[in-house]
Parts: sequence; structure tokens; C-alpha cells
Amino acid sequence: MRLEQLGPQHFDSTWQYLQDEEGRRLTGTHQDFTEDAVRKFLARLPGSDERADWAVIRTEDGAHIGEVVLNDLDEDNRSMNFRIGLAGDGVRGQGYGTEATRAVVAYAFDVVGLHRVSLGVYSFNPRAQWVYEKVGFVREGVARDALLWDGQWHDEVLMAMLTTDARL
Ligand SMILES: CC(C)(COP(=O)(O)OP(=O)(O)OC[C@H]1O[C@@H](n2cnc3c(N)ncnc32)[C@H](O)[C@@H]1OP(=O)(O)O)[C@@H](O)C(=O)NCCC(=O)NCCS
Repeated sequence: MRLEQLGPQHFDSTWQYLQDEEGRRLTGTHQDFTEDAVRKFLARLPGSDERADWAVIRTEDGAHIGEVVLNDLDEDNRSMNFRIGLAGDGVRGQGYGTEATRAVVAYAFDVVGLHRVSLGVYSFNPRAQWVYEKVGFVREGVARDALLWDGQWHDEVLMAMLTTDARL
């Protein structure tokens, strides 16, 4: 895969991605987006100095298969939050998520100069937890009942990686 700046040109695939029910559950996305809001959001991304959003592009056919994000910049403490989501038939489980996560971790530490990258992952998402552990994220704790989904409470596992941690 390769990563490219996410922007207005990715509207159609982003819109499709936002309709993916399983993806919404795995990322705990309650919000319903309007087309207008998504267009405006994508237009604001290029050139932002507070966050970085990339489209994950499958190299073989150029398909836009997901997004990966560094957001919530805390400049004083040199930390950001990490988020990833892939969608589409046969896209998950092919190694793209691991590859994209490794690439963004390297960018965060080696290019941006961050000290810490953190993330939250729901307890019902062992695949994502394993991918993060595999790359070198360390489990730091649990936010209990952080998500209410279909009438049930779910914990959020808190993980982070420091620039001094081993990259796996
Ligand atoms: C989470 C996500 C980014 C992972 O990317 P991916 O390309 O599907 O994952 P990969 O193919 O790189 O790796 C999957 C790994 O998880 C393992 N795995 C799959 N299902 C698993 C399960 N139920 N429990 C534990 N490990 C599991 C696979 O064996 C593989 O590990 P391995 O390479 O050591 O064999 C992707 O599946 C995704 O976007 N899912 C939907 C949205 C989401 O969950 N986002 C994260 C929110 S925190």
C-alpha cells in the first residue's frame, strides 16, 4: 500500500467507507454524516498543521481502501492520537493495516519528532489490538464502559507507543 494526503478527491470512497456498518461498530462511530459535512471536512485536511490524514491506497489497482490519522496534537508534550480504518470487500486481514500503522508510527517519531502516540481500541476488536501490539504499542489501561453500542456497554483499551519503545 501507499499513503497519500486525504482530501476532497477522496469524497466518493470516503462516503462509501462511512456507510460500512461493521466499520462504524468497530470504530464506535455514532454520528451520521451529511455529504456536505464530509466534503467540508475533506477540504480542510490538506495543509493542516494540527493533524495528518492519509488515504490508504492499494498499490496494485490504486483503490482507496481506508484512512489513517494522527490527530489531537499536544505540542507541549509532543503527543498525538492514532486512528485507522480500512473498508471494502476482502480488504481487511491482508496485511495493509499492519503496514499502514508501521508507516505512520515511523512518520510520527522520525519525521514529526513526537514522543508519544496513543490510541483507544474497543474490547470487542481483538484483531486491531493484535495489530497494534504487533507493531509495538503497549497496553496502558482500560476506560470502562466507554462505548454504548446497541444498548450494551463496552470497555476501551488504551494503548500507546513511545519513541523509546521497540518498533516491532
Ligand atoms: C484493524 C485494522 C486496521 C487491521 O488491519 P488489517 O489489514 O485488517 O490487519 P492485518 O491483516 O495487517 O493484520 C491482522 C492481524 O490480526 C490477526 N487477527 C485477525 N483476527 C483476529 C482476532 N479475532 N483476534 C486476534 N488476532 C486476529 C491476524 O492473524 C493478523 O495477525 P498476523 O499477521 O500476526 O497473523 C482493520 O482490520 C480495520 O480497519 N478494521 C475496521 C476498523 C477498525 O477496527 N479500526 C480500528 C479501530 S481501533
